[in-house]
Amino acid sequence: MKNRIASALLVLLCLVPAARSRAEDGKYHDKDVVLDEAMVPPYDLPPLLVSSAGKPITTPEEWFQIRRPEILSLFANLIYGIVPVPESPIQTTFEVLKTDRAFMHGTATRKDVRIKFTNARGSADMTILVFTPNGAARPVPAILQLSFASTKDDGHDAHPEKPRFLRNGIPLGEILQRGFGYVVVSQGALVRHNEVEFQSGIHPLFYRTHQSFPKANEWGCISAIAWSASRAMDYLESDHDIDARRVAILGHSKMGKTTLWAAAQDQRFALAISAQSGCAGAALWKRNYGENMEKMVTRFPYWLCRNAWKFVRNEEDLPVDQHMLIACIAPRPVYVHSGVEDTWADPRGEYLGAYHASEVYRLLGKKGLTSETSPPVGEAILRSDVGYHNRPGGHSIEMFDWLKFLDFAEYHLLKR
Ligand code: GCU
Repeated sequence: MKNRIASALLVLLCLVPAARSRAEDGKYHDKDVVLDEAMVPPYDLPPLLVSSAGKPITTPEEWFQIRRPEILSLFANLIYGIVPVPESPIQTTFEVLKTDRAFMHGTATRKDVRIKFTNARGSADMTILVFTPNGAARPVPAILQLSFASTKDDGHDAHPEKPRFLRNGIPLGEILQRGFGYVVVSQGALVRHNEVEFQSGIHPLFYRTHQSFPKANEWGCISAIAWSASRAMDYLESDHDIDARRVAILGHSKMGKTTLWAAAQDQRFALAISAQSGCAGAALWKRNYGENMEKMVTRFPYWLCRNAWKFVRNEEDLPVDQHMLIACIAPRPVYVHSGVEDTWADPRGEYLGAYHASEVYRLLGKKGLTSETSPPVGEAILRSDVGYHNRPGGHSIEMFDWLKFLDFAEYHLLKR
């Protein structure tokens, strides 16, 4: 283990002088990354609708049978990491730990549900929270949010009506009042935020004999959190209060990246909302604007899988770009969100990721983004299967954003 960490550090240190020389030759500036549209290099996106064998993809069947599986496999093996098949089968159990029908002054029910995984190698568990409006006819559609906060903080929480995970400006009342349930999945339940050892949490259950660390193409943090979102969905399919066919997945930043990866793979998510997901989210790698592969893997070596390290300062060699990930969500509606001052996440690249993915939405008879030009700041594109807005301000989800997300989800999951 020590050797592995040492060699990882060595790789990372080796990257530093090269990055510096880029700054010297004028290519990079300000924090060593491109933050000026004029400095974006010319780039070539891999074709979405041509198979790896060179076959044009012209029908929905060819998309689903040939191209989509190829693209998902490339993302799994090169970017986020595959979930290996465990040697010892995993048993999963659901346990409703607590049901509070008097939540929010009696307007909502809160359920704390433990999902436990056990096999011959050990066990791990995650607790999800499920809120449903008391007045609404059941089952209700739901917003499943991948949260940075813990869902296990109750015992020491002094504000039972406003626990920690809700304090980040989440308009729970508005969500419930619009007829949605709200489900919280904590990113830290099965893997730590910046995990480096992979000795606790979910990974050990999946190790093969004599394995103690994920292989280069095996799951990093984002992939593990996406897996946990799918396990939450397994539970929701068994919960009669929730309409599991109308669950939107939502996340911000690192969780916005995870949202896209989870929704791309798991077609049970009916809709995806990816807020300011940036690098390894909606933003195109090949624009090399804002955070890039080098920054991502030096600061967070294991959010992605180790194979991704091969593309440091070499994004042009990637056989995929992030528009292809968004395309794997089609025909299900997807919403991409940016902030004008959130330049690290490349708002323009996020828009272009969504715009280029629209090609597949059109192939599947859906409505995508039609203009390569980003819409005016503050204007939301809602009545399209690929939605988008960019609002003034920085890296956060504001009330304005929430209302647009809910309008989008309402339009696609409730009103049509
Ligand atoms: C860092 C990281 C981003 C990420 C963000 C977050 O800024 O560079 O890629 O989106 O953290 O998760 O808040």
